[in-house]
Amino acid sequence: MVGRILIVYYSWSGNTRRVAQVIHEIVGGDLVELEPVEPYPESYSATLERAKKEIRAGLRPPLKTTIEGVKDYDTIFVGSPNWWGTIAPPVTSFLSQHNLSGKTVVPFFTHGGGGLQKMLDDLKKLCPQSKVLQPLTIYEDGGGNLKERVRRWLIEIGALSK
Ligand SMILES: Cc1cc2nc3c(=O)[nH]c(=O)nc-3n(C[C@H](O)[C@H](O)[C@H](O)COP(=O)(O)O)c2cc1C
Repeated sequence: MVGRILIVYYSWSGNTRRVAQVIHEIVGGDLVELEPVEPYPESYSATLERAKKEIRAGLRPPLKTTIEGVKDYDTIFVGSPNWWGTIAPPVTSFLSQHNLSGKTVVPFFTHGGGGLQKMLDDLKKLCPQSKVLQPLTIYEDGGGNLKERVRRWLIEIGALSK
């Protein structure tokens, strides 16, 4: 994997942020957390409800975060928690705002037991002209061996040599 690296993610309760930080420690590049203009509530049940409505309606909530020169990156790591079986709406917003054709997209996901579900398929639909690599899928915050898991995955996808 060559060129400039961007690591972009959304995280509501910190798990995906933790994974993003570990990836960043290992591969470097620029690390950006997506923030929606209207933050999700602190309450889990209220966030569940809002997320359900947005996902059902296919909404792409406006982002406060702007990233300069996305076109100048070659490899874009994209991180999301599993929300109702798919990627979180702020990640959908990011992917629909930028044309990532010709770029390498490297997904990393966290979930609460459902695994990948439709996350990868839905991400791919939003960057159909990108080369999408095998995702990293982590249960909650990945526990004690997260760093080792991330390292092994980066080697498998060719982002890191042994
Ligand atoms: C709104 C919402 C919806 C969720 N839906 C699912 C789901 O459908 N399947 C699943 O496995 N986990 C689900 N979870 C659990 C999260 O995917 C999991 O806790 C994840 O690691 C959270 O990442 P974060 O801390 O970066 O926000 C949901 C969590 C929230 C807040």
